[in-house]
Amino acid sequence: MTKYMVITRNLTKRFGKITAVDRLNLEIRRGEVYSLLGPNGAGKTTTIRMLVGLLLPDEGEIYIDGIDAIKYPQKIKRVIGYMPQFFSLYPDLTVYENMEFFARIYNLPYHIKKERIRYLLELVQLWEHRDKLAGALSGGLKKRLSLAVVLLHDPKLIVLDEPTAGVDPPLRRLFWRYFRRLQKEGKTILVTTHYMDEAELADRIGLMSRGRLIAVGTPREIKRMVYNGDVMRIVAKTDEVEPILNNCSFIKRILSKRKLADKIEYKIVVDDFSLAIPRLATKLKDLALLIEPVNITLEDAFIKLTVGEEALGWGE
Ligand SMILES: Nc1ncnc2c1ncn2[C@@H]1O[C@H](COP(=O)(O)OP(=O)(O)OP(=O)(O)O)[C@@H](O)[C@H]1O
Ligand SMILES: [Mg+2]
Repeated sequence: MTKYMVITRNLTKRFGKITAVDRLNLEIRRGEVYSLLGPNGAGKTTTIRMLVGLLLPDEGEIYIDGIDAIKYPQKIKRVIGYMPQFFSLYPDLTVYENMEFFARIYNLPYHIKKERIRYLLELVQLWEHRDKLAGALSGGLKKRLSLAVVLLHDPKLIVLDEPTAGVDPPLRRLFWRYFRRLQKEGKTILVTTHYMDEAELADRIGLMSRGRLIAVGTPREIKRMVYNGDVMRIVAKTDEVEPILNNCSFIKRILSKRKLADKIEYKIVVDDFSLAIPRLATKLKDLALLIEPVNITLEDAFIKLTVGEEALGWGE
C-alpha cells in the first residue's frame, strides 16, 4: 500500500487550443484533507473529472488507491465518492427515499443499507428531516443530502467539486466539520474551492493556476513561500533600531521601512516568528514600541506566486 491515495503524472487535457490541465503532478496522501485551490478556469473541475473517470486525459497517468485509473475505471468507481458541483437529487422523493434509491444503484445489501442510511443522515444532521421531499429542502440541506448520498457505498476517497460554492459561511463551516469527522474514519478528502479562507482549513493545499500546480504545502508553508520565512512588523521610536536590525543574524531581510508620524515601522523576514520575538525584544529593548508577526494571507501568497511580489505593494 502506497502512502498516496491519488497520484497523477503529467496529467494533461486540452480542449481545442486551451490546455485546461497542463502536465499536472498531484500527490494526495492517504487520510488527508487536500484542497485544490484556484481561480475560475484554473482547471480544477477538469482535473477532478479525469480523476473520477468521467473524462479521458490526453496524456499522463492516474493512480488511485494504487490502481491505474485509466486502465481500470470500473475498479476505482468503488473507491471514490464523487460530488459534482451540481448534484441531482430526486425532488419528488423524500430525503430517505433518495438515500434508498441511490443505495439500490450501489447494490447495498438490505441489512447494511438501513444502518448505513441512518448513520449518514445522522452525520449530516438530516435524520429528523428524513420524511421531507428533497425538492422542498433549502440549498444548504440539499448539499448535505448530496454529501450523504455520495458516502453511501463507503468510499475511501471523497472528491467534492466546490461543495460550498454559493452556500453561506455557517454551512461552509459545517461541511468542514463533516470532513474532519470523515477523516477520523480514515477517509481521504479532495475538495476544490476558490475561497481562500476555506482552503486554509485544509491539511494541504495545491495552488492551481492555468492548468498547472504552482505550489503545494500546508497553509503555513504556502504563506511562507511568499517571503521565504515569516514576516514581522516592528514599530520603533527612531531609526536607531536600524543598525541593530542589520546586525541580527536571524533577520533574513528588511522588507520595508515607513515613517508613521513620530514613529517608524519596519517589516522584516525571519525564519520563525516565535523564536524571533524574544530575541528581538532583548536586542531592541525600549527602542521598540511594538513587535508582532504579520499575517500573510493565502491571497497574498496566490498573487505573489502567480504574478510576482510587486503586486502586493509592500516590497522595498
Ligand atoms: N468541455 C469543455 N470544452 C471546452 N473547454 C472547456 C471544457 N471544460 C473546461 N473547459 C475550459 O478549460 C479551462 C479549465 O476549466 P475548468 O472548468 O476545469 O476550471 P475550474 O478551475 O473548475 O474553474 P471554476 O472555478 O470556474 O469551476 C477553462 O478555460 C474552460 O473554459
Ligand atoms: Mg470548476
